[in-house]
Amino acid sequence: MINSKPILFSAVQPSGNLSIGNYIGTMRHWSSFQDNYECLYCIADLHSLTTLNKNFFLKKSVLDTLALYLACGVNPTKSIIFIQSHVYQHSQLHWILSCFSQFGELSRMTQFKNKRKIEENCVENINIGLFNYPLLMSSDILLYQTNLVPVGKDQKQHLELTRNIANRFNLLYGDIFTLPDSLITKNGSKIMSLLDPTKKMSKSDTIKNNVIFLLEDISSVFLKIKNAVTDSETPPKIYYDIKKKPGISNLLEILSAITNKNISILEKELDGIMYSEFKNIIFDNVSKFLYKLQKSYLDYRNDESYLKKIAKEGAIKARLKSEKFLKRVSSAIGLD
Ligand code: TRP
Repeated sequence: MINSKPILFSAVQPSGNLSIGNYIGTMRHWSSFQDNYECLYCIADLHSLTTLNKNFFLKKSVLDTLALYLACGVNPTKSIIFIQSHVYQHSQLHWILSCFSQFGELSRMTQFKNKRKIEENCVENINIGLFNYPLLMSSDILLYQTNLVPVGKDQKQHLELTRNIANRFNLLYGDIFTLPDSLITKNGSKIMSLLDPTKKMSKSDTIKNNVIFLLEDISSVFLKIKNAVTDSETPPKIYYDIKKKPGISNLLEILSAITNKNISILEKELDGIMYSEFKNIIFDNVSKFLYKLQKSYLDYRNDESYLKKIAKEGAIKARLKSEKFLKRVSSAIGLD
């Protein structure tokens, strides 16, 4: 059978500042997905135009991110790795989908509402791109007849929207779009901030001590972990309970993800130790993990001509697929 594997699509916005939360929630699984799915890994540079500022060097960040994908085990001979803006079909489908989407449904997207709140307070850049953002994401997904999208909780609503729009289109024009399902990975889909474990760890957090960055100097990680919020249970006890013990639970999630050990096993191993010792163990493991990742990252990052070759070949493969499919969409609505 040709093409029997389900198609999986994933993307992150290019930023040299990806966090350990991005890794644990998203990129950690990318390498093993390649054995079971036909994978497309995209660098969503068009999405990052929504938050562009003059201190951000997009071109450099795209290459940083590409090197990071490779360091995380994405293999260009198994998967299609490409840069969103290199495949113009994404923008084209975005326009088409926008004509099948309602102002009201986009206004209800939680991420947009939150961004709008934050940016209104700073009287900043609430551009239309922020509003349209989920539709570009829908285009990314639908363009490749994707079956599965690994999503964290925060992107689940965008995937629902994608299904709704696809369904609406299909009702009018026949079964053109494949309805994508979410692939929710069990643990660690949402790593929380270190100083405030009730909110998500965000790479754009202004308080840098909240976030462990994948490419940061390992020496600065020690203090961040040391200062991470725990709780005042006496005697201290290490177990997972997101409501009663958000700080400890978050640290357990991090440790579990980078050691590949179940949380229940960790709870047994760590039984009876002090929080300070628990943090030392976390630092040991996080630093080993970061060291290895950063070494591999640098090997790739120092070879720009290789990175550009990967991007070029990925774009050719992605264009081939998306061009064919976009023609089907266009001809269904009479644009051919
Ligand atoms: N919006 C996603 C994020 O910020 C990135 C993204 C863009 C994406 N296109 C996608 C994720 C398609 C999954 C599928 O994390």
